[in-house]
Amino acid sequence: MTNQSTQERVEALSQKLRYHQHKYYIEDQPEISDREFDELMKELERLEAEQPELIRPDSPTQRVGGEVAFGTRVRHRQGMLSLDNTYKPEELYGFDQRIRRALPDQEVEYVAELKIDGLGVALLYEDGLLVRGATRGDGEYGEDMTANLRTIRSIPLRLTSIQPMPTVLEVRGEVFIPKDRLDEINRQRTENGDAPFANARNAAAGSVRLHDSSITASRPLDIFIYALGDVEGIEFTTHTEVFSSLAAMGLKLNPHTEVFPSIEGVIEYCHRWTAQRESLPYDADGVVVKVNSIAQQIELGATAKSPRWAISCKFPARRGITKIRSIEVQVGRTGVLTPVAILEPVQVAGATITHATLHNEQELIRKDIRVGDTIVLERSGDVIPKIVSVLTEKRDGTETIFRLPDRCPTCNEPVERSTREVAVRCVNSACPMQLKRRIAHFASRGALNIDGLGPALIEQLVDAELVRDVADLYTLKSEDLVELERMGEKSADNLIRSIEANKGAPAAKVLFGFGIFHVGENVAELLIDHFRSIDAVASAHVEEIEGIHGIGPQIAESVSKFFGQPTNQNLLKRLKAAGLQFGRAPEQKSSGTSESARFFTGKTFVLTGTLSTMTRSEAAAKIKALGGKVVSSVSKSTDALIVGDSPGRKYNRAQQLDVSILTEEAFISQLQEGNKET
Ligand code: IVH
Repeated sequence: MTNQSTQERVEALSQKLRYHQHKYYIEDQPEISDREFDELMKELERLEAEQPELIRPDSPTQRVGGEVAFGTRVRHRQGMLSLDNTYKPEELYGFDQRIRRALPDQEVEYVAELKIDGLGVALLYEDGLLVRGATRGDGEYGEDMTANLRTIRSIPLRLTSIQPMPTVLEVRGEVFIPKDRLDEINRQRTENGDAPFANARNAAAGSVRLHDSSITASRPLDIFIYALGDVEGIEFTTHTEVFSSLAAMGLKLNPHTEVFPSIEGVIEYCHRWTAQRESLPYDADGVVVKVNSIAQQIELGATAKSPRWAISCKFPARRGITKIRSIEVQVGRTGVLTPVAILEPVQVAGATITHATLHNEQELIRKDIRVGDTIVLERSGDVIPKIVSVLTEKRDGTETIFRLPDRCPTCNEPVERSTREVAVRCVNSACPMQLKRRIAHFASRGALNIDGLGPALIEQLVDAELVRDVADLYTLKSEDLVELERMGEKSADNLIRSIEANKGAPAAKVLFGFGIFHVGENVAELLIDHFRSIDAVASAHVEEIEGIHGIGPQIAESVSKFFGQPTNQNLLKRLKAAGLQFGRAPEQKSSGTSESARFFTGKTFVLTGTLSTMTRSEAAAKIKALGGKVVSSVSKSTDALIVGDSPGRKYNRAQQLDVSILTEEAFISQLQEGNKET
């Protein structure tokens, strides 16, 4: 590093990353692409790996792993009280009267907030650094979950300094999972043989309390801070003032908080959100009303259980009653059999419900759910509704008990009921239904992204035995395909072309496409970044995999198990022979010869001098077409300067800043490489 010491660069990068994390995770207004962000993160990781003494505990790289004290009981510096509840907005008049009686002749202002349905946590910052994160527990004692809470990107590891800056700051918040992500997590869990989470709150709580923080890191957890706990070095007069300071320090607050001069406005707010709750991307189970003035809060005090200055107004449950017509069995990618209830259609909170997932057989037994039963159904968020309970008094004796079959409904092979897990599995690796699901995953957007290979076509390919595993996709011939229903020569050619077109997909996408338990897109990238090829991942020992920053024991075991199976080894060989990318695209070199399309994607270029084969604007258009960006002046964040004849001052500046320089010749060879791949 020529112009800057490594330490300065580490600090500059950390600061930049913190800024962009705040923009992305807290303000929801990213200023740079994910790719640019990743590049910064990788540079920081590389520098820290070279000089580990420069790693600070609040470095943006230090979110996963390396923590002690997991689950230790900790005493909250100030008790975390719970809230008194009301169930109808009009009941808030009673609350308002009690307040007025206790504070005669005083003006009272109220703050209304959404009550987020997640897991209550307390975060402790000392001198701006996150030193502890704990669950609420019983309010007096919680569990130390620092390691896992640190993985939540919207929790700053270091606060932005304000004046005056509190020396000690304990804040309370609610950790949650966006409701549209719950289905995805439950699907994975079911495939894994784990019991699904009943709702987003359980999913958030379960994820925060995992023993492997790399799995917590892979869960889409988020937080809203809702109150102050213990604080030293700063004083506040109102709750709203607390909120503005917390926001200024970089903490994430819910945007729907409103202040009202009287209870009427609060009641209207409750009605409004009762009607609008479905539109929220997370679960809220009510409204919390708080007295805004801190002096008044102190005067009002608290009972043993809850403050007198706050109350919640719970939203009504979104439930419906209907009958189970039948129960069907679905077979997932990993062979897990899932019962699904087919219902008499019913309207719940504005949606027509026809199916309810029963997750697994245990749940059927536990809730004693039978075909023909009248049941209570609950919708929470966008997730598939669940059956809360059976109205047994409505039974007339015609109801029938349902159990998962002993043979797979698709391939008719015996299923496996293991004592270790709740799942019942079809273990026939040739089971057509599993195969269909595996192919669908392999072809999906995050993996090989094969256009036009949808469920109906996959069904036909598997049923006609044209495809017995994903490698067979690469030996398909047009003449075989035209035999299929609704498949003309043209669509057959198109399919083959799109299968071929994505052969160049990066190794991480191929690895993700295998559908290994716990190996999502991020983990696949981490593995390829570390091992550089799928072959190296496949032959790595569990310990070596587990040694990667960001990967824990469960993931490591799952990867190692997958590649230990002879069928999977064989599959690897055939996919490699078919020409799929197994290695990582080579790194960019400053001399800039022969790279790939990745060379341009997400990077910033500057052009100078006269090019002999094209104009500068043609060059810029080509860079943009390959995902790059062209700017007019050279700075430290420029990735390369492309130099034609008689270059200007930009050339000297690039040299000063140690920015890579590409000759026209090298640039053209990069373009050719790039175009080959896209
Ligand atoms: S205020 C003394 N505000 O609900 C103040 N709580 O039963 C107590 N919660 O344990 C809490 N959103 O985990 C408050 N905007 C919000 C909240 C909220 C969710 C949770 C919190 C608490 C429980 C109260």
